[in-house]
Amino acid sequence: MRTLTLLAPAKINLSLDVVGRRSDGYHLLRTVMQSVSLCDRVTVREEAPGTGIRLECSDGSLPTDCRNTAYRAAQGFLAAARRDPSRDAPGLSIRIGKAIPAEAGLAGGSSDAAAVLTGLSRLYPGEVPLRRIPELAVAVGADVPFCLFGGTALCEGIGEIVTPLPPLTGHPLLLLNPGFGIPTPAAFRTFDDQAEPRHPDTEAVCDAVRRRDLSALARTARNVLEPIALAAHPRLADALDWLMARGAPLVRMSGSGPTLFALFPDTEDGLRMREDAAAAAEAEARFRGFAVLRARTRESGPTLEA
Ligand code: C5P
Repeated sequence: MRTLTLLAPAKINLSLDVVGRRSDGYHLLRTVMQSVSLCDRVTVREEAPGTGIRLECSDGSLPTDCRNTAYRAAQGFLAAARRDPSRDAPGLSIRIGKAIPAEAGLAGGSSDAAAVLTGLSRLYPGEVPLRRIPELAVAVGADVPFCLFGGTALCEGIGEIVTPLPPLTGHPLLLLNPGFGIPTPAAFRTFDDQAEPRHPDTEAVCDAVRRRDLSALARTARNVLEPIALAAHPRLADALDWLMARGAPLVRMSGSGPTLFALFPDTEDGLRMREDAAAAAEAEARFRGFAVLRARTRESGPTLEA
């Protein structure tokens, strides 16, 4: 039976604006997303026909049925391939080794789904036209189309209109996750109740990315969901202040939160890296219960494990 293992990278939002709302309640976004090197490991294995989809996950608190985005991605692929699950569809077992925290604003679930779609497209080439894969992706979740491509991109619509930007690769990142989740629907609901937000200048953010100008990026990028999360969680606001004091050019909350990130210049300078390691150790001591993760910006979405 054939098996593929993929690395499914997390993403951060360098900037996130809400510019409207669809009649179905989904919010229209203008957001610049960036893949990062923190990856889940997704193994897709072909099983005997008619045995259905079986999902296993290293994090026992996550659902392993159709509430899981990876499961729905596999269902969507088999349906698009016109395979009947009780007859000629291959059985599939999917194993997810989680490294990306859940409900963290890092698109962990979306990236797992994107990895499943990428893996199945390779295991069953030609069964679903490649141009249909982004459609299957957005049916699973708004961030899944970006996660298919990865790198650096402007995402519009509900997130599914993905315009690639020149990759902002190799920047060291410090990620701070407070150990609790913020469900995305709740974050957007609170956003709807708040006063008019201060919008980022998304064109200027894209320009800054094209010029790799981190100070311009820091001046222009915002996340309109960030003030809501900071107001609700004072320790998160303290952690953000602490990150800002590290001197990173860009410090923000990612997506609907609560994970915070600091993006450093892409120097290979050993001293800088030691400073980053020291910062991670200090953060762990200072913010009990927070996970401190070191990563780098990355140029691609899911890739086959080497
Ligand atoms: O598509 P996804 O499953 O990631 O979205 C989860 C929920 O987050 C949606 O049901 C919706 O409440 C909210 N959402 C939104 N606008 C977006 C993305 C997500 O309102 N662009």
